[in-house]
Amino acid sequence: MAKFDMAEVVEAFRREWEKHKMQVEQYKPPVYKCQNCKDTGFLDLYPSDPRRASGGKVGTVMYCPYCRANTLRGISGLIAEYRQLDIKKFPWETYERDVTKLKQTVESFVYDFQRWKDEGVGLYIYSEARGSGKTMVANAICGSICTKYNIPVRFSKVEDFLDDIKKSYDGKEKGILTGVNVRKYFDAELLVIDDLGVSKINDWGKDRLHELINERYKTGRLCIITSNFRPEQLPIHAPTIDRINDMCLAIHFPEEPIRSQKTLTRKNRLMQYVRSYDTFTDCDKAPFKGETHE
Ligand SMILES: Nc1ncnc2c1ncn2[C@@H]1O[C@H](COP(=O)(O)OP(=O)(O)OP(=O)(O)O)[C@@H](O)[C@H]1O
Ligand SMILES: [Mg+2]
Ligand SMILES: [Zn+2]
Repeated sequence: MAKFDMAEVVEAFRREWEKHKMQVEQYKPPVYKCQNCKDTGFLDLYPSDPRRASGGKVGTVMYCPYCRANTLRGISGLIAEYRQLDIKKFPWETYERDVTKLKQTVESFVYDFQRWKDEGVGLYIYSEARGSGKTMVANAICGSICTKYNIPVRFSKVEDFLDDIKKSYDGKEKGILTGVNVRKYFDAELLVIDDLGVSKINDWGKDRLHELINERYKTGRLCIITSNFRPEQLPIHAPTIDRINDMCLAIHFPEEPIRSQKTLTRKNRLMQYVRSYDTFTDCDKAPFKGETHE
């Protein structure tokens, strides 16, 4: 039997290791966007138990709900500015009016969504005042529901819906099946129709809107509608209003034009700054410097 010099074996191993030492020092562990699933999109419920709780008979791998919530938010059409907004972070304190009941209703809609769904009741958020936060709250509700229940929601303006429908009609004539594109409005578990009644809808549009509302009504899918009109004053078909009345709880948002109040504060701040100087010099930084595209 050959004899080994153990000291030499160890030394050889050390020399080998020295060769890789530099690479090891430079190695940076990957940075994951999602710490829960390490960006695989899946979670193993029993990662440390190779025999699994069910003896390997039932799959214990699930979609990573954290990633899925982000993906769902990403494809829901939420306004970019409000994409991370959560109902918990909604600034109710901005309003001068007492909004306790309003807050309670909105929070209940998010936290007891299943109950509202079973009852088939959505929300109709209206205020005559422009910029009172209707769109903002609808985004917050939508985002929270997306994250909390991992369900697909859709946020859209009426015009987007009608544009998509129009495209699908044009498409059919050319033999292209674009109808799939409009199913998202019909099939989403929760649909937000933003600013209903703001732009004029022609008769064709009113018919299409009726089809949408009617199908969602029949299938018990919820809607959140925001508008500057009281429900009964909406400039759409009477039967559509009737269905909206039945499937949505009307909530009157404070008649406080937060947008113009914010604008005023901003402009006042700027004017204060302007008035605080007697003379002006050119800014030292040239605007758009280095952004030329040659
Ligand atoms: N509660 C609030 N706290 C702080 N800012 C708010 C609040 N509500 C609304 N805003 C701000 O006011 C602006 C207008 O809000 P939003 O678009 O939601 O109003 P709106 O009621 O949908 O308006 P419109 O009637 O024109 O559709 C936004 O820039 C938003 O950031
Ligand atoms: Mg709005
Ligand atoms: Zn994940």
